Amino acid sequence: MWGGRFAAGPSAIMREINASIPFDKALWRQDIAASKAHVAMLGAQGIVSAEDAQTIADGLDKVAAEYEANGVPENWDLEDIHMTTESRLAELIGPAAGRLHTARSRNDQVATDFRLWVREACEQADAGLQALQVALVTRAGEHAGSIMPGFTHLQTAQPVTLGHHLMAYYEMIRRDRSRFADARARMNECPLGSAALAGTGFPIDRDATASALGFDKPTGNSLDAVSDRDFALDYLMAASQCALHLSRLAEEFIIWASQPFGFVTLPDSLSTGSSIMPQKKNPDAAELVRGHAGRIAGCLTSLMITMKGLPLAYSKDMQDDKPPVFEAAGLLALSIAAMTGMVAEARFRVERMRAAAELGYATATDLADWLVREAGVPFREAHHITGAAVKSAESAGIALDQLALDDLRAIDPRIDKRVYAALSVEASVAARASHGGTAPKEVRKRVAEARGALGLEGDAG
Ligand code: ARG
Repeated sequence: MWGGRFAAGPSAIMREINASIPFDKALWRQDIAASKAHVAMLGAQGIVSAEDAQTIADGLDKVAAEYEANGVPENWDLEDIHMTTESRLAELIGPAAGRLHTARSRNDQVATDFRLWVREACEQADAGLQALQVALVTRAGEHAGSIMPGFTHLQTAQPVTLGHHLMAYYEMIRRDRSRFADARARMNECPLGSAALAGTGFPIDRDATASALGFDKPTGNSLDAVSDRDFALDYLMAASQCALHLSRLAEEFIIWASQPFGFVTLPDSLSTGSSIMPQKKNPDAAELVRGHAGRIAGCLTSLMITMKGLPLAYSKDMQDDKPPVFEAAGLLALSIAAMTGMVAEARFRVERMRAAAELGYATATDLADWLVREAGVPFREAHHITGAAVKSAESAGIALDQLALDDLRAIDPRIDKRVYAALSVEASVAARASHGGTAPKEVRKRVAEARGALGLEGDAG
């Protein structure tokens, strides 16, 4: 394709290091679509004859049908998907194929193809995340009143509801979806027609190609358009943040499924056994989601470092933009699907969660709050009094609400028997009815709102 000024062909090493076809063949659909939009515009503008434009468009359809049926052939001499397609087109339709590349370059071509691919990846992530949200709100609705220990520092802190805990992930995923939506909106400008770097002297219609490919408008600066990979970085940033959230959810399932916790029985379909220990059921899918987050963040780092310090405009370094994006997209799709299955099918052992919430003096704050509310004690002092009560219960090996009233009154005489009503885990969660709090009625409100936002009918649970 560029042999004109060369006396010798590339060495084997040059051919190998240069070839992107092994991975960029994944762009074939986008490449065909962009070429069809380009040639239709060339025909409409009279830059190529209507007849050639039609011949080229039909030829591109044939190439696409071949790719669909047999896959994309991998010939390193043809470097990439763009040259592979053009060369096959020439075999099929003859010299007219040479007119397709008028008023464009592989630089704007690859920028356009890749944007189309990443735009679709944003849409796929969004669809997967929506399904995960549906699973989360469904289970949260079922468990709006199921009590479990809430943790800080992974130490029992205050009782919460399982529904509340699951809805925390709903919120994270909501932000992830908005990041993918932002990325999609920002990237939706069409580089095609920027040509090699400076634009073109041919009377092209960039609005026509932009709109044919579903872009909002053409990009505004040709140098930027061929050297910009922000769209891929935006996607990888959103994917990394999302993977990070999924890894936290995965980690919770791993902890909850361990025998000392026993909060959840993972679905068999997303667990594995051990070849040596027959009793084992391992949370491998969750562990791999946790692990994949590292690889996805690595993909982001990889492209950031590739782009760092590149001068305008296109440099061949940028060919390395695709593998990390493709890898991240594949890992993310699997991670989302695995966590959706996990949430939807996990069997929550609510009796174990409830029993764990009774341990660890989770309602100590409620005692302090009661002293503030009912006896007018300043919170700092109430905190101190409660500490003494916990110490006394701990040395007796009993729960806070098992302390005798006399023992409590010995610690502080302002305590009376009404305090016991505040010390149950049910009373504790019911009391936390502030907006976004863990009270079952508050969780049900948030679940109802979320169901509305997701377009789900009626109430859950
Ligand atoms: N295969 C190349 C890539 O993915 C296409 C652009 C090549 N442009 C060039 N000037 N060599 O980046």
